[in-house]
Amino acid sequence: MTQLPDLPALGLETYLIRTFGCQMNKHDSERIAGMLESLGMLPTSEVEQADVMVFMTCCVREAADERLYGQVASYKNVPSPHGRRIIAVGGCIGQRDGMGLTERLGNIDVVFGTHNIAHLPSLLAQAARDEVPAVEVLDEADGFSTELPGIREHAWHAWVPITYGCDNFCTYCIVPYVRGREKSRPFEDIRSELITLAEQGVHEVTLLGQNVNSYGRDLYGKPRFADVLRMAGETPIERIRFATSHPKDLLDETIQAMAEVPSVMPQLHLPVQSGSDVILKRMNRNYTAARYLDRVRRLREYVPDIALSTDIIVGFPGETEQDFQDTLALCREARYHQAFTFIYSKRGGTPAARMPQNATHEEIQSRLDRLVELVQESAWQLNQQEKGSVVEILVEGASRKDPTMLAGRTPKNQVVHAKVPEGCAPESLAGTFRKVAVDTARTWYLSGSLVEG
Ligand code: 5AD
Ligand code: SF4
Repeated sequence: MTQLPDLPALGLETYLIRTFGCQMNKHDSERIAGMLESLGMLPTSEVEQADVMVFMTCCVREAADERLYGQVASYKNVPSPHGRRIIAVGGCIGQRDGMGLTERLGNIDVVFGTHNIAHLPSLLAQAARDEVPAVEVLDEADGFSTELPGIREHAWHAWVPITYGCDNFCTYCIVPYVRGREKSRPFEDIRSELITLAEQGVHEVTLLGQNVNSYGRDLYGKPRFADVLRMAGETPIERIRFATSHPKDLLDETIQAMAEVPSVMPQLHLPVQSGSDVILKRMNRNYTAARYLDRVRRLREYVPDIALSTDIIVGFPGETEQDFQDTLALCREARYHQAFTFIYSKRGGTPAARMPQNATHEEIQSRLDRLVELVQESAWQLNQQEKGSVVEILVEGASRKDPTMLAGRTPKNQVVHAKVPEGCAPESLAGTFRKVAVDTARTWYLSGSLVEG
C-alpha cells in the first residue's frame, strides 16, 4: 500500500460494498473490505449508515452496465450519516470509462480501475478532503491484489487468484481490454497462500483466473496448471475448485491431475460458447466442436462422474438457425449439469461489435428459450441419478428458500437442501462437512436429510 490515510478521522467510518460480475470481483471486494477495516472502518449493510459506498462493477454485458447506472443514481438522495457520502466506482466499468463516469453520473466521488485497488484508501481520503472527484485508472497492475489484507465472506472458503488478465481476445469479449494482459502469480506465492489458508481453517478454495489452464506460460515458458493442482492437493485443504478453463488449453496432464488428486473436485466449468465451427472461428475461440467434445470424452474417461458446466452465447453476429442447431447438438452430447446462457451483447471496441447482425430479436430470444429448455432437461436428468444416494456436503448455512433447512454443496457443486434435527440452527453447521441422504432431485438442487446427528 502506498499510503495509509486515517479514514475515520476524515468522517469515513462505515462502508458498504456492492459487487457485480465474476468471482475475481468477489475476491477484490474481499480485499477492499480487508483494507478498509485495517484502516479502522466498519462494515454496514444499510445504505443509510454508509459513509462510503463502493461499487465493484462488471461490463461483460450491457445489462451489467445498466444495473450500475440505475443503482448509483438511486442512491443520490439517500441521506448519509455524516452529511456526505463518498461513492466509489471500481472494477471493470471504472477501468473502461475512467473520468467519463463522473461526467455521466453526477454523484460519483472516486473512480478506480482493476489494477489499483490498493490505492482506494488514498483516493477516498483525497475525495473527502478535496470535494472534487478522485479518478485513477492505471494501464498496468501495481502488484497483485492478493497481497492486500482480506476479509472473507465465509471463513471456510477462499478465492485464490493464480492469474490476472487475459490474452485470448475472443472477439465478443471486453475482458482483455479491462483486465489487461495475462500475468501469472509465482508458484511459491500460491503455495504459501494455500498453506496459510489451510492454517486459518479454510476447507475449500477456488483457484481463479480468466484462463487458469494457461497458468505459468508467461513465467515459466509453459503452462504449469497441472503442477498447481498437484501442489494444492498436498495441502490439507479438503476441496479444490477452479475457474475458468479455456477448452483450447485444457491439457491431458491437467485432466490427469484432476483424476489423481483426491481434493480436486469432480467438477469443471468449461465454457463452450457455441457448437458451430463457423461461429467458434468468428469468436476466435481456437477450437472446433469436435475438439471440445474430445476434451469432454477425455474428462469422462479419467473422471467418470464429473459434473460439467458451461457458458453459451446465442445470437452472436451471423449466427444462423443451423449454427444454433449445432449448439443444441453439442449440448446434448456434452450433458451439462449447468449452463449459463447469454444473449450476445455488443461491446464497444471489440471486433464482433463491427460484425453485422442478421437474426431478429425474436429469433434470438426463441433460441435462448429452446437452449434453456434443453439444458434444464439434462440438468434434471443428471440430478435424478443422485436420488437414493448419500452425498457429502460442505455446509454453507441456512437455505435461502427455507431458513429452517441448511444449504450446502456436493463435490460436484450441486446445491443440497437438508432438514436439520430439532433445535439445531443451520448456521451453526456452516463450514462443516455433513452427509445427506438424498430423497428429492430437482433441476437446480437436491434435498434430503442429514445422515448422522
Ligand atoms: N455478450 C454476451 N455474453 C458474453 N460473455 C462474454 N462477453 C459477452 C458478450 N459480449 C459471456 C461468455 C463468458 C461469460 C463470462 O460471459 O459466455 O464465458
Ligand atoms: Fe465482468 Fe469480466 Fe470484469 Fe469479471 S472480468 S467483472 S466478468 S467484465
